[in-house]
Amino acid sequence: MKGPTHRLTLSSFFSFSHQTPKGSCLEAVKIAIDAGYRHIDGAFVYFNEHEVGQAIREKIAEGKIKREDIFYCGKLWNTCHPPELVRPTLEKTLKILQLDYVDLYIIELPMAFKPGDALYPKDENGKFIYHETDLCATWEALEACKDAGLAKSIGVSNFNRRQLEMIMNKPGLKYKPVSNQVECHPYFTQPKLLEFCRQHDIVIVGYSPLGTSRDESWVNVSSPPLLKDPVLNAIGKKYNKTAAQIALRFNVQRGVVVIPKSFNPQRIRENFQIFDFSLTEKEMKEIEALNKNVRYILIEHSYSS
Ligand code: A2P
Repeated sequence: MKGPTHRLTLSSFFSFSHQTPKGSCLEAVKIAIDAGYRHIDGAFVYFNEHEVGQAIREKIAEGKIKREDIFYCGKLWNTCHPPELVRPTLEKTLKILQLDYVDLYIIELPMAFKPGDALYPKDENGKFIYHETDLCATWEALEACKDAGLAKSIGVSNFNRRQLEMIMNKPGLKYKPVSNQVECHPYFTQPKLLEFCRQHDIVIVGYSPLGTSRDESWVNVSSPPLLKDPVLNAIGKKYNKTAAQIALRFNVQRGVVVIPKSFNPQRIRENFQIFDFSLTEKEMKEIEALNKNVRYILIEHSYSS
């Protein structure tokens, strides 16, 4: 995987099924690139890949960056798991981005929806229409995309240990997943999965590293707001940093890539200012002890909004 763990990522994710206000993603990505971000986490279902691509191309045209400086992660949506759909889906993303390749292409979720035009297919009772998926066959199609040069690296998201093992033990495996993108922050530290992934050289990319938003329509707000945590705030005071910066630094320091989402210029810059200090071992332990094993993102709940 090209993106080292000390790089910070801007996530262009807004919220499941909610579109970003027109132009806001373009501006956010340009500000992020100027601030030093090089890893951008996106997806077809965020409906803003055209703006991400435009921002990257504008910054290249300005001479600020070269294409090879950027690490763009795209995602294969749930309705596109059948192997014959994988390459055309990635090609569609590349066309939207107006780029020749993505740096990382990942299977967004281990479960599949019925293929078709509806991205969130539902039956007459409002229930999602799932589709049987052969993750190994989907993975082989991703391997072919890598061989064709459309994706430099391939990985997964929201996979548990069993699902990762299924891919890794697949007969004839050509490439193992380089990364697994999962929810990860001080209230959901993923100690077992992190250890398993470390052993197998799979990078954990932590989404919702700030405890995400408090939007009740798709977030489990029964877990208290992460950034109000007294321990994170007390440690922040010592270093003249915010609770957000402490939460990000914690993950980066334990080898987890973080993908904070912000469309606010000041917070985009703030989230990048985490490389000029380090937490002590005692502080790392204190933050690890905050783990509640509770997710903010309950996946199916978040689709329903
Ligand atoms: P905004 O886009 O207005 O900055 P996560 O990355 O965990 O999903 O969290 C995203 C949420 O956290 C968004 O609501 C975002 O809002 C907010 N956010 C991002 N950076 C910060 C920060 N440094 N301090 C407080 N809130 C932040």
